[in-house]
Amino acid sequence: MRKIFITGALGQIGSELTLHLRDIYGDDNVIASDIKADCPQNISGSGPYEVLDVRDSRSFSELISKHKVDLILHLAGILSANAEKNPQLAWDININGLYNALEISRNLRCSLFFPSSIAAFGPSTPMDNTPQLTIQRPTTIYGITKVTGELLCDYYHNKYGIDTRGVRFPGLVSYDTLPGGGTTDYAVHIYYEALQKRSYSCFIKRGTYMDMMYMPDALEAVVTLLEADPARLVNRNAYNISSMSFEPEDIALSIRKYLPDFVLTYNVDPVRQQIAESWPNSLDVTAAMEEWGFCPQYDLDAMTKDMLEKLGVKLSR
Ligand code: NAD
Ligand code: SER
Repeated sequence: MRKIFITGALGQIGSELTLHLRDIYGDDNVIASDIKADCPQNISGSGPYEVLDVRDSRSFSELISKHKVDLILHLAGILSANAEKNPQLAWDININGLYNALEISRNLRCSLFFPSSIAAFGPSTPMDNTPQLTIQRPTTIYGITKVTGELLCDYYHNKYGIDTRGVRFPGLVSYDTLPGGGTTDYAVHIYYEALQKRSYSCFIKRGTYMDMMYMPDALEAVVTLLEADPARLVNRNAYNISSMSFEPEDIALSIRKYLPDFVLTYNVDPVRQQIAESWPNSLDVTAAMEEWGFCPQYDLDAMTKDMLEKLGVKLSR
């Protein structure tokens, strides 16, 4: 059985991925870690939890040895909007944290999963049906750390034979843990405020398309890629994945199918708008489908239905 170590496990993805992987691989075989000392009971009560700053290479290495880990899921990082507020910190955590994870993987012979992002593309990238292999000249510090990460993971695979794998996540929508300071966060906040206030003031401009995916499809994609036959992985770092592309008016229309009095207004944030406009409108996900069977289940309306149901239960507690 695999021994899996997750960094940044208390974030939007990690808080759900940890429990999902514990269901599959066993509670004791999935070690969650994060820089935060306070860990929710559902994570700390269902398996091991360690406090770790991924920039501390010695502690990181000791934990991987202590738990006899063979696979690191390196989720710790600073997302796009927060990264623009403090680019130096974003570089430190996103790059030095990944470098430590790669060096530990090399020294202790672990496999490594590293999530890249739609942010790895920039304004000179073809915007529609963005190819797997194309121009990558991002203009955000977050995107620059993601392209660097993709290349570093390729390098450690080619030079040292480390089994590195990764995806370019689109914006992820989920109801469990709030997103951590990204540009696509509006697509989560809109559901909360639709239920709580029947209105939402959007920081992204009408007509701005970005790729998105519902969290259950993201969790399934990670597991499917981790279990994929390595011989089939040509583009191992990192695969375009997405299941829908929409603009704010599309999500509002979808919400109105269930909450007809929902009102969408705009108060555009120039920083996040500029980031959004530098990212693709829609990704080509053919390589992920062909090489490891990426097969998302949720479109926008299916996601909206499930989000409103599950979030409604959560908010009424
Ligand atoms: P998040 O911001 O919700 O969570 C990140 C976690 O990392 C937080 O719990 C934070 O406490 C932790 N962290 C920050 N600095 C740390 C450090 N120095 N040491 C250890 N832990 C630290 O992010 P997320 O949405 O869960 O994203 C996880 C990964 O997936 C990131 O690399 C992100 O870039 C990538 N990604 C996310 C999305 C998305 O829409 N959520 C999309 C594309 C890529
Ligand atoms: N959801 C992420 C962000 O907006 C994309 O990487 O930063």
